[in-house]
Amino acid sequence: MDFERRFTPQPQSPDIELFRTRVLKFYAAQGRSFPWRQNTHPYSVFVSEVMLQQTQVYRVEPKYLHWMQEVPDFRSLAKLSTERLIGLWQGLGYNRRALALRNSAIIVTKEYGGILPDVPELLQSLPGIGPATAASICAFAFNKPVVFIETNIRRVFIHFFFRDSGEVNDKDILPLVEASLYRESPRDWYNALMDLGTLLRSRGPNPNRKSRHYTRQAPFEGSNREARGAILKALQGTPFQTTQEISKSTGIGYARIERAVEELTAEGFLTAEEGQYGLK
Ligand code: ADE
Repeated sequence: MDFERRFTPQPQSPDIELFRTRVLKFYAAQGRSFPWRQNTHPYSVFVSEVMLQQTQVYRVEPKYLHWMQEVPDFRSLAKLSTERLIGLWQGLGYNRRALALRNSAIIVTKEYGGILPDVPELLQSLPGIGPATAASICAFAFNKPVVFIETNIRRVFIHFFFRDSGEVNDKDILPLVEASLYRESPRDWYNALMDLGTLLRSRGPNPNRKSRHYTRQAPFEGSNREARGAILKALQGTPFQTTQEISKSTGIGYARIERAVEELTAEGFLTAEEGQYGLK
């Protein structure tokens, strides 16, 4: 591959219209149905998008359904105890997202009268909400023609427009996202891109490996994330425990438990009392 081509990826096909038609046809034929696509209330979309940030849809779906039964709106989430919060989040991983979600609900309730703002900049100022989640919420909850990239969207554009390119930068992809956006229904459009991106991932090598923004998720087994999840589970409904006891009940080595307990305490999930730890 020559130097110039590698550093200035060119869209392989400039035919935006054809691309749009293909994506919409795919969606009409094979688009998926999810409960958060049926219930597009801003609270429903908000919860689902935070759950979907780092967890796969098949894991999210049952958790989301249970969550919506138990915690149906921002007001009830704002009042939820940490123990119930962590209990409902169990299985989704990356527990700090649950705390951020509750903090967001407190802000939405106090500062916005319980009504989620429909402006990406305001959404992004909420805890745990980055630019891609803020934009997703605007598209899925408010049907707004926002322009953004996340992992599934990136995969679709690389697949269609940068097939023969080397490294691809998001700034080369964004103009295509903007130009192709199906403005009649941004909600359907981004659902379609997410579905197609998921399908492309399941088929062969991930085109995102070409992206400068690509990072693989760490393996779960033996990870710090695994230790954190196990600790929170072990402490549910039990009296305070020492790190040795937690290590014993989880079967995870002492050094890993120690490190994860320290982190969880610093982040506000746990409280320490005389060398023992419990859920906050
Ligand atoms: N990943 C992130 N948001 C999603 C959504 N709304 N549908 C499917 N996958 C997603």
